[in-house]
Amino acid sequence: MGKAKKRYVCQACGAAASRWQGQCADCAEWNTLVEDAPVTAFAQKHDLSGGGRKIAFSSLDAPSAPLQRIATGLAEFDRATGGGLVPGSAILMGGDPGVGKSTLLLQAAGRMAQAGRSVAYVSGEEAAAQVRLRAARLGLSAAPVGLASATSVRDILTTLAEGPAPDLLVIDSIQTMHSDLIEGAPGTVSQVRGCAFELIRFAKERGCVLVLVGHVTKDGAIAGPRVLEHMVDVVMSFEGERSHQFRILRALKNRFGAVDEIGVFAMAGAGLEEVPNPSTLFLSGRDQPLAGSVVFPALEGTRPVLVEIQALIVRLQSGATPRRAVVGWDGGRLAMLLAVLESRCGLSFSSAEVYLNVAGGYRLNDPGADLAVAAALVSALADREMDPKHVWLGEVSLAGEIRPVAHGPLRLKEAAKLGFTVAAGPAGLGPPQGLAYHPMERLGNLVDRVIGGV
Ligand code: TYD
Ligand code: MG
Repeated sequence: MGKAKKRYVCQACGAAASRWQGQCADCAEWNTLVEDAPVTAFAQKHDLSGGGRKIAFSSLDAPSAPLQRIATGLAEFDRATGGGLVPGSAILMGGDPGVGKSTLLLQAAGRMAQAGRSVAYVSGEEAAAQVRLRAARLGLSAAPVGLASATSVRDILTTLAEGPAPDLLVIDSIQTMHSDLIEGAPGTVSQVRGCAFELIRFAKERGCVLVLVGHVTKDGAIAGPRVLEHMVDVVMSFEGERSHQFRILRALKNRFGAVDEIGVFAMAGAGLEEVPNPSTLFLSGRDQPLAGSVVFPALEGTRPVLVEIQALIVRLQSGATPRRAVVGWDGGRLAMLLAVLESRCGLSFSSAEVYLNVAGGYRLNDPGADLAVAAALVSALADREMDPKHVWLGEVSLAGEIRPVAHGPLRLKEAAKLGFTVAAGPAGLGPPQGLAYHPMERLGNLVDRVIGGV
């Protein structure tokens, strides 16, 4: 047999290369290639076409037991996971350092333990005393959570193999785990993948819910291997600006439910508080009419969330290139809207700086926000105060037409429920009771309404 081939794996994206290079050919990251543990020679030595056990095929309509779910007791967490945790499944919880992953999971673990479930929380990052301190802060000291500080997967699994498996096993974080059966330092692709594989196998065999915490790199991917996302059943992402209070828990992949539901929390002195009505959080302290401030009924999954969009226009005296800065929305879309306002409505932004901000650190991905953004821009440009009880929704085409948005009636209903009295948006949308509706066909209608008040 020839010499075993060396293999190098990118720690950022998991791509493999046959020789070492300074830059990954796949994701273009620098200095991320590391020699991988040798591939087992098992497949080379054995003929894999015989000698296995027979597997049974069944029909698609064969009866099966309904999916069981364990509620965590945090309603927002359960909502984001599609109704609770499924025994025997693996969940990857990604998020920036400091966003609150450990806090969230300790709270969920505490709630479940208080409800009589057996829970094991293994921290590889913090000493047990640190976790205890956090539990005290969260008021969970009395919750019967089994707490351990460990990083060896073999130790963890050996311990758990004795006695009944816990209902919930939290590993915080997978990047700190290592297995002595695998080469490489903790956090390398082969370690992360190997440790996750062992832990997931344990969860599937013993029917416990496994939650793996995963750090996120600066560009938003869960650090280390993409393969981890394929190995687990559910990928959750915990998002939010550290400087802001609110946090969103989102499912990016879910084998047991929809991926468009979110859970909303606010980080407070005593841990994460559930926010059953997010709109009140994003709109707080907003009752004065202001120029450049507009409310948009956004949609997160099936859940309407009202957010405030703010625009600021600063006229430039000199011929310097004006800045365009956007927080919480797509910069390319802003450029498009400015161009449409300029060419279809004759409004000129070319000698002005344009700043756009979605309040509260919220990120909007909804094309239905075009009209609201345009209203904020026009109001800021003309320095016209906006009615604080007015919402705007609609997509704007390059021709300047106002297009319908998904779930318009649901969004308007939420606005009416929260005390908004006026709405403007695409034609053909029936408003709920108590809401005056201004249908708009083109962007010109918006300019008339903001500047001319019609
Ligand atoms: P943590 O859960 O440690 O984040 P992660 O595990 O994602 O790295 O929490 C990080 C921040 O949350 C920390 O900077 C302090 C803040 N925090 C609160 O504001 N209130 C609290 O009750 C707790 C426990 C944390
Ligand atoms: Mg942590």
